[in-house]
Amino acid sequence: MRRLVAESSLGIDDLVAPLFVRESIDAPVPIASLPGVSQHTVASLVLEAKRLASLGIGALVLFGVPTCKDPVGSGASDRDGVVQIALRQLRDDLGDEMVLIADLCLDEYTDHGHCGVLNDRGEVDNDATLVRYGEVAVAQAEAGAHLVAPSGMMDGQVAAIRAALDTSGHDDVGILAYSAKYASALYGPFRDAVDVTIAGGGDRKGYQQDPRNRREALEEVRLDIAEGADLVMVKPALAYLDVIAAVRAAVDVPVAAYNVSGEYAMVVAAAERGWIDRQAVALEHLGAIKRAGADVILTYFAAEVAEVLGG
Ligand code: PBG
Repeated sequence: MRRLVAESSLGIDDLVAPLFVRESIDAPVPIASLPGVSQHTVASLVLEAKRLASLGIGALVLFGVPTCKDPVGSGASDRDGVVQIALRQLRDDLGDEMVLIADLCLDEYTDHGHCGVLNDRGEVDNDATLVRYGEVAVAQAEAGAHLVAPSGMMDGQVAAIRAALDTSGHDDVGILAYSAKYASALYGPFRDAVDVTIAGGGDRKGYQQDPRNRREALEEVRLDIAEGADLVMVKPALAYLDVIAAVRAAVDVPVAAYNVSGEYAMVVAAAERGWIDRQAVALEHLGAIKRAGADVILTYFAAEVAEVLGG
């Protein structure tokens, strides 16, 4: 009876698994602050993607960990950058069985750790960064990404990427926009996962959103849709369920939510101490994100939850 009258339900089809691929390693490297998640070699990444596909998961989002970083994040758009090599391999081996989403940002590739390039005063230069994002989008599309996911929160990034994709013959590649991405303290474990430290103890408050604001998120979402976003995302998810609900009510494109690294790590750490039931909390959290209105959920719990839901 409870199943019959349930108002929302979490399904395997809703899940997207975030994966990391690292250059110049011979075997996967576990990420200490994200137990159960590893930096992959290209070969182990392909195996993991096949395992996820066999569990019924239909999409992954890929992050790269390059060996060399420089001021403009060259590796992000290099044809032979680690993500491009990995995308080509995944697309060859999996075809269209798995939606390949490429996170599109510079922070993993810049030596200063910011999501954009800097001007002479050491501040992020929004418009110069847009040119770089266009180059990254084209490289990712050429390598086989089905969707690119700009996560740098530069103004005008969706329009710049759409134009770059269209003029390079990639009009069939879509954009999942991290539209409402907050300057959150919950990204800590992720920054370990991609070896990112922001120079001079800096932060991203200049381009990510103020956690006190909700209407601002709606404005960002509307702008992104007007610029050509195919899906919009709210990030983090759990601390921003009200934002997910407001976005869902305001727009008709698919809404994604990112259950971020800190949200995952808190559950895993408490469960390791025996204080909470990991699986039950994971299902409750993801169910809440779904109930709030997300159609698509990016989560480090994807594989284990898929096993439970499929089981
Ligand atoms: C930026 C990016 C971040 C995350 C995804 N893309 C980190 C940041 O903005 O500092 C965080 C994801 C997570 O915490 O799980 N490229």
